[in-house]
Amino acid sequence: MPNPTSNIADDLVQMGRPDRTAGRHVNMPLELGSTHVFDTLADFEAARDARYVSGTMYYGRYGNAASFKLEEMLARLEHADAVTLTSSGVAAITMALLTFARPGAHLLVADHVYGNTRAFCDGVLTRQGVDIEYFDPMIGADVADLMRETTCAVMFEAPGSGTFEMPDIPAIAIAARAAGIPSILDGTWATPIFCQPLTLGVDIVVASMSKYLSGHSDCMMGMIASGAKHAKDIRQTTMAIGDKTGGQEVFLALRGLRTLKMRMAYFDTVGRDMAKWFSNQPQVKTVLHPAFESCPGHANWKRDFSGASGLFGVVFHPCTDDQIRTFVDALHHFGIGVSWGGYESLVLPVTPQRSANTWHEEGQLVRFNIGLEEPETLKADLMAALPHLNTAPE
Ligand SMILES: Cc1ncc(COP(=O)(O)O)c(C=O)c1O
Repeated sequence: MPNPTSNIADDLVQMGRPDRTAGRHVNMPLELGSTHVFDTLADFEAARDARYVSGTMYYGRYGNAASFKLEEMLARLEHADAVTLTSSGVAAITMALLTFARPGAHLLVADHVYGNTRAFCDGVLTRQGVDIEYFDPMIGADVADLMRETTCAVMFEAPGSGTFEMPDIPAIAIAARAAGIPSILDGTWATPIFCQPLTLGVDIVVASMSKYLSGHSDCMMGMIASGAKHAKDIRQTTMAIGDKTGGQEVFLALRGLRTLKMRMAYFDTVGRDMAKWFSNQPQVKTVLHPAFESCPGHANWKRDFSGASGLFGVVFHPCTDDQIRTFVDALHHFGIGVSWGGYESLVLPVTPQRSANTWHEEGQLVRFNIGLEEPETLKADLMAALPHLNTAPE
């Protein structure tokens, strides 16, 4: 369990390092390998029996000294009893869902989840006989009304990474717990710097480490954090499926995490500044940034988060598809790409997918990831491109 006297800044520096640094490098070495060998058969058998416990050296697929250090560090940051690393954020989501979903089960999924979560539910779990029901992410405690005898888990995201509604995390988590089923939250957007969902009653946090946690757009990884109750089952699912994190990715994630707190503080400040700037532009209808009142669930963000990351949405006044294309193509400092959370600014038009209700915001939604470029450079770039969105006078 977390050491109550520690703080995140110190943990990010002190954890994930060799046990003894005197006469050695301060960082964990790059660990590559498959086979571990043992002195005795009894030692081997003890490791085999404990192979689903992080820290047990058994075979490369189960982890190694560096990946165990990373898991320990993430568990501390998330206030979790255990963390299992996965090969990507999508793998973290699918491993967590597969741990609980079974044929005939009913799975509640928030309507604003990341597109690949939806694709996995609709494409894979449905084929396996799981009944997927999407719910309005702003429903809060009323999610209890949707629960059935067969409900196996509640999956949600805070905020939705395309549309940015901020759900009432404790209300949904408590409703799930009261029904005796686990809640699973994708917490990629905030990172544990700004929110630790396990302390709000969530049972399982999944995150893409390819985003802010590793932070440099050079690493694909995911993680699943939970209390002891679910830790072994999650790890067993992940290992049985054969999901595996590479040594180089572990090295890069440990390196990226060292600067997480300062990067997030920067993205918080500059992201808000950019969002405010957007809100003053005539082409902008509304800004979907959880720190702004215009964002659904802003009060939940204010209560449960200590900051905001640099990913937010901008709804432009209705215009044509061609105008949006011309605007996006005219930007020089925003790459067009699906990821976020790295050092570089990105832009992506978003078409929200909805099942439980319809996306009500009229206009064109575009998602911006603010990077480490000079904000004035980004504003000048946008300023030159925004006139492409001017609507013709009636
Ligand atoms: C909210 C969210 N969760 C998970 C993922 C998946 O992460 P990865 O790309 O590491 O598989 C993404 C990726 O875009 C995401 O936006």
